[in-house]
Amino acid sequence: MCGIVGYIGTKKASTILINGLMRLEYRGYDSAGICTIENDNLKVMKDKGRVKNLYNLDGINSLTGTIGIAHTRWATHGKPSKENSHPHLDNSNNFAVVHNGIIENYNELRNFLIEKGYNFKSETDTEVIPNLIHYYYTKDTNNSNNKVLQAVSNACKDLKGSFAIEVISKYIPNNMIVCRKDSPLVIGKGDNENYISSDIPAILSFTNKFYLLNDNELVLLSTNNVTFYDSDLNVINKELQNIEWNATAAEKNGFDDFMLKEIYEQPNAIRETIGSRLPKNSLCDFDDLSFSKDFLSRFNKLYIVACGTAMHAGLVARNIFEKICCIPTEVDIASEFRYKNPLIDDKTLCIYISQSGETADTIAALKLAKQKGSTTLAISNVIGSSITREADYSIYTHAGPEIAVASTKAYTSQVVLLAILAIYFAEKLEKTDSETLIKLKNDILELPSKVDETLKCADYIKEYAKTIYTEKDIFFLGRGIDYTTALEASLKLKEISYIHSEAYAAGELKHGPIALIENGITVIGILTDENLVEKSVSNIQEVITRGAKTLIISNQHLTTNNFDKVISVPYTNPLLSPIIAIVPLQLLSYYISKEKGLDVDKPRNLAKSVTVE
Ligand code: G6P
Repeated sequence: MCGIVGYIGTKKASTILINGLMRLEYRGYDSAGICTIENDNLKVMKDKGRVKNLYNLDGINSLTGTIGIAHTRWATHGKPSKENSHPHLDNSNNFAVVHNGIIENYNELRNFLIEKGYNFKSETDTEVIPNLIHYYYTKDTNNSNNKVLQAVSNACKDLKGSFAIEVISKYIPNNMIVCRKDSPLVIGKGDNENYISSDIPAILSFTNKFYLLNDNELVLLSTNNVTFYDSDLNVINKELQNIEWNATAAEKNGFDDFMLKEIYEQPNAIRETIGSRLPKNSLCDFDDLSFSKDFLSRFNKLYIVACGTAMHAGLVARNIFEKICCIPTEVDIASEFRYKNPLIDDKTLCIYISQSGETADTIAALKLAKQKGSTTLAISNVIGSSITREADYSIYTHAGPEIAVASTKAYTSQVVLLAILAIYFAEKLEKTDSETLIKLKNDILELPSKVDETLKCADYIKEYAKTIYTEKDIFFLGRGIDYTTALEASLKLKEISYIHSEAYAAGELKHGPIALIENGITVIGILTDENLVEKSVSNIQEVITRGAKTLIISNQHLTTNNFDKVISVPYTNPLLSPIIAIVPLQLLSYYISKEKGLDVDKPRNLAKSVTVE
């Protein structure tokens, strides 16, 4: 998730661009850059590091151009470095491009362009775009005014994946071209000037009049004009919209809190995590891994290690690895693992999960595994984070920056990535029939729309939260995979509502905790596993008998009707059901916290990244 800004008008562009980037830094902040048109030439200034570092670049103050594009990066392809920073130029230095999104077929396009004589300076997927534009520009013999527009349109048709791009060119020094597909982009209209941005807040201080772009639309901008085209370059009309947000609230895109925004970002975060890893009609593909059957056959045990929510993602994954890869899988809390002399050796593959990639206990646990000769694989959301530098292998969730302390979209993306990893292993190891794996892949591909569907319960949950926010204790019950959801739901509630809560394997309740059940207590049951639903229902009857009020989250047809509230969620493969079932429970914690008037995004005593032991 990178941030992009553009300006075309009569003022000095560089100042406006850097100002806009600062407001977009929440989208990524490992490198930044701008390109302006100076005396009809392109001038790029960029470097690794935060946006404010741009002010220190030699010559930045001498930029006087009034047209420019800018980018703040959250690395996906290629580490944070000057070379990988945007803007990127084509080989002839005639086209400059900034890009947000992921070009899934960049390898294929890169090879095509290399064959045509192009060379590449960065490791990014983005660099294919300016070169592809150049390729189509020179191929087009028709010397029309719209030659660059045609070249951009042709290039976009070749791109698979998601993109929002801005293009400036020496050939059209008074124009800019922008387009988008599955990545956000808006145009702000001023007087004799136009602004472009990944989102409204970054340019809200300049204008409140916006054009919102749809997928596959192209725009040709000049100081006074904005012309919209469909993908075949037919001119289309677009209404200008007045946006009445105040700038601070708008940074959250209209959401009250980052946590709520991130809960709603989950369908897209999952989409980004899947990326090009689940190609139709072929085997799972990890750009960053190339494990052979022989290599994977060496391992007689998987050990998943993490902290907090990331550890809960590991618990879900254990079920998937054991089921489809038939490898015994242990899950441990990093702070326990590191001091217990774990039984691991060179036949163990240790998987470390960390959203931030900076959690001290997880890093220490990884170092221990290396000392013991195990192979280590890191799963992180942050490119180049410490854990990924330590591990033998790393893969990324691509969920975009997570700002709220309580993890939501990182969790669901971690589970999705682990499920894809398990399929990748199972395909290599040939432990499960291909029909089952194809079915599981299709179930993963359907998750974004099912999470979207699940989010529709928000209003109901909001009302329900008003009835229980004063509770002192809340219980979560589930069996099997639903127990893992109970654990994560209970953690979420504790973190942001400060209500004491317990998660129990439903069958274990009678061995002690049932003594705590008294009249009026709230018990939340998660029932998604068709093989265990009847067993769990019986356990929930035991608490109802003792006076508990119940909320049930289920994707099953329930024949019992004495539950107080039931939230039906879309059915999915039982191995994946935690990804759906957790969504109403994230919302419940959120709305309870709001009812209590707490700071949802920054709960007391907690930190987003725990870099101390
Ligand atoms: C902190 C955060 C949790 C997070 C845990 C692990 O405790 O508050 O939300 O799950 O760290 O963080 P990591 O970045 O390693 O996933």
